[in-house]
Amino acid sequence: MVKRPRRLRGSETIRKMVRETRVDKSSLIYPVFVKDGTGLREAIPSMEGQYRYSVDRLPYALEEILKSGVSSVMLFGIPKHKDEKASQAYAGDGIIQRALREAKRTFPELYCITDVCLCEYTSHGHCGMLCGREVDNDSTLQVLAETALSHVQAGADMVAPSDMMDGRVAAIRRVLDENRFTNTPIMSYAVKYASGFYAPFRDAADSAPAFGSRRSYQMDYHNSREGIKEVLLDEEEGADIVMVKPALAYLDMVVKVKEATNLPVAAYSVSGEYAMIKAAAGRGWIDERSIVCETAVAAFRAGVQSYLTYYAKELAGYMDEGLIG
Ligand code: PBG
Repeated sequence: MVKRPRRLRGSETIRKMVRETRVDKSSLIYPVFVKDGTGLREAIPSMEGQYRYSVDRLPYALEEILKSGVSSVMLFGIPKHKDEKASQAYAGDGIIQRALREAKRTFPELYCITDVCLCEYTSHGHCGMLCGREVDNDSTLQVLAETALSHVQAGADMVAPSDMMDGRVAAIRRVLDENRFTNTPIMSYAVKYASGFYAPFRDAADSAPAFGSRRSYQMDYHNSREGIKEVLLDEEEGADIVMVKPALAYLDMVVKVKEATNLPVAAYSVSGEYAMIKAAAGRGWIDERSIVCETAVAAFRAGVQSYLTYYAKELAGYMDEGLIG
């Protein structure tokens, strides 16, 4: 036999020498939930091992994240008051705004990205303003832009709109530029599917829609060319990074998006992906470490530059141990 693929699998040294995908902690982004209140480190039942922190307890969480070698977070806010107008989303003393100021005061080196969406802040749990029972696109844009601006004013290094309204990247870019935040990047949740994988997150953030679904604004998972349409629109509107979400069931989209744009591509391994691994591992049916490594490397192999995951700290540890690298 002339060709024997096994020759390059004979030892750890040769396997690593020819490895096609290398992973690094600097690619990891860890999502963190911040909740109104004090002294909180509330366990999230649907996401074992994840917590909701009040602003005063947030620095302890951030210190742990930085110690693991992860240097970026995505912040999600859970406000005490929700209303029709999502007023706590853009309040100067809103939960995210206070969390950002505390994060930047305690750990200025930590890179803080914020999720820009209204579903955690609206009384009806939809991602935009309602007109009757419809989510109204154009009146939502101003609110999203104002929310993004308030995040940046409070110290956000990057904003990440996840609402899926048409034109939101342009609206946010315009307001940031008008306020001289020309250098603050936008990571757009460009290819975001209406997905059952978000259920544990909606428990965690108390953001499930009170009626209907998000299918009139998030994408139909039967479609892939539509995802490229979204990416190209967001790129035109000024997105700096485009994201595919969820990750595991949508890695085909990562490959296609990479072909369609030169922007960096991120993937978000969402709450349901995390919960599935936790649940099966908890029963001893799978080995958590190997599944976490395998699914993360799959995203990088598909081509992502950045990877959002609730397993970021563990992954950083696995890299230290040489399990992946
Ligand atoms: C806000 C938002 C959601 C997630 C990220 N940003 C929920 C949703 O769209 O319903 C989901 C993240 C996860 O499941 O981990 N719109």
